[in-house]
Amino acid sequence: MADMPHPDIGEVLFSEAEMLNRIAAIGAAVTRDYAGKELTVVAILNGSLLFAADLLRRVNLPLQVDAWSVSSYHGTESSGTIRFRQSQLADLHGRHVLIVDDILDTGLTLKAVRAHVESQGPLSTKLCVMLKKIRATAPATEADYVGFEIPDKFVVGYGLDYNENYRNLPYIGVLTGEAIARGRTA
Ligand code: IMP
Ligand code: MG
Repeated sequence: MADMPHPDIGEVLFSEAEMLNRIAAIGAAVTRDYAGKELTVVAILNGSLLFAADLLRRVNLPLQVDAWSVSSYHGTESSGTIRFRQSQLADLHGRHVLIVDDILDTGLTLKAVRAHVESQGPLSTKLCVMLKKIRATAPATEADYVGFEIPDKFVVGYGLDYNENYRNLPYIGVLTGEAIARGRTA
């Protein structure tokens, strides 16, 4: 019998096996699309930690990795402004850059990240996200590789957090209303 999900998870959207299956397909697509090129992967922390680790091992290309600690989100609402927590970022001039993040929601964070990459004169910039939320309005920036599209619900696990919790869950699940409410008053 499969393990029971965490009690704060109302519904599991994707199991670990489903995630890994899809990540293998994205890794193969990236390997094919960048054949003969060298890549710089910019992983956005902390959310893409698990996704990037699984994806990188399935990309068969010469590549470099930089991890950017960017913050924009507080609780369940996007703030739209970003802050880099480190001062030294990789030189992206003349590189093919693949930005990797956990989720494309409003896209405000990733639009700002993309603008920062493009200001450095890379050869190309693409965006890869594990999840994309289906919303009424289009995101501020589009992704080139998407793991799964999901409904507009607040999800956690596989790197995604709620107030820094639940990142270690090996699956993606919808957080219960009670758990969200508890986090608001904590
Ligand atoms: P955006 O700027 O609205 O696209 O927000 C991007 C960031 O918000 C992501 O990198 C996540 O850290 C966070 N985020 C957006 N939706 C969710 C969610 O459903 N669960 C957890 N974090 C989320
Ligand atoms: Mg987050």
